[in-house]
Amino acid sequence: MAYNNIQTESKDNILYITINRPKQLNALNRETIGELSQAFKDGEANNDIQVIILTGSGEKAFVAGADIKEFANYSVEEGKSLSADGHKKLFDLVESLRKPVIAAVNGFALGGGLELAMSCHIRVASENAKMGLPEVSLGVIPGYGGTQRLAQLVGKGKAIEMVATAVMINAEDAHHWGLVNHVTFQSELLEKCEEIAKAIKKNSPKAIGNAIKAINAGFDEGKNGFEEEINQFGNSFGTADFKEGTSAFLEKRKPNFKGE
Ligand code: CAA
Repeated sequence: MAYNNIQTESKDNILYITINRPKQLNALNRETIGELSQAFKDGEANNDIQVIILTGSGEKAFVAGADIKEFANYSVEEGKSLSADGHKKLFDLVESLRKPVIAAVNGFALGGGLELAMSCHIRVASENAKMGLPEVSLGVIPGYGGTQRLAQLVGKGKAIEMVATAVMINAEDAHHWGLVNHVTFQSELLEKCEEIAKAIKKNSPKAIGNAIKAINAGFDEGKNGFEEEINQFGNSFGTADFKEGTSAFLEKRKPNFKGE
């Protein structure tokens, strides 16, 4: 499919999605959010894809936020709809995807950009990355899940500090705070993400998807994570992947998972 604002490529069971508005530091306008939503849905539906890696084009930015030019004159209702649409179309979609999504944070991840990285399951940052939620400096608040997911990742105190000061933190501090899993040289960023993807690809896609669902349930107000774990654990016993994984162990061979 042809896109205006993103590029996609599949290789070795990995879908690479690159946000490609480098002149605007990959800022997220509505069209880009719609295209990303479609690309993630396609990746989820494609049986050949096991892992998705999301990054920004150029060496400067992952995503510098929601597109300020687009929403500068919005009314209260338009602001609410921008946020609600974004949650539904992209940020919640990515978080609840059953295939692991790795954010390769290659530069600025600000506002909606950090919120997008935080909705991914795993974050790897390059040394030059700068992260922050600067929305209050514009007189608005994080609107793509940042008030919730930042507190989940770094704790309430650090989240309030980051939001209230609007200060950007560097990759080293982000690592120290638990906001990113790894920090690498920029030239090795994709390689590091691919190394993680390689380890993921050895395992049962079905079980990984079910585990993501159980982990997410623990962070969802209306759900009981332990109950979801019990259900998903039980469901595993009815999958072909479980039969294959246990047979392979007993037969002392490597499993060949079909994701079924
Ligand atoms: N929206 C729209 N355009 C943006 C943008 C954004 N979020 N961030 C950068 N750009 C554009 C700039 O306007 C500039 O375009 P022009 O050349 O046409 O003027 C271009 O990208 C390059 O940016 P700068 O010249 O500013 O580059 P810099 O190196 O001097 O500064 C920066 C880099 C510190 C990231 C700075 O661009 C910046 O502060 N950007 C805005 C960051 C921000 O506030 N993000 C939060 C947005 S609000 C949000 O995300 C709401 C939400 O939660 C839903």
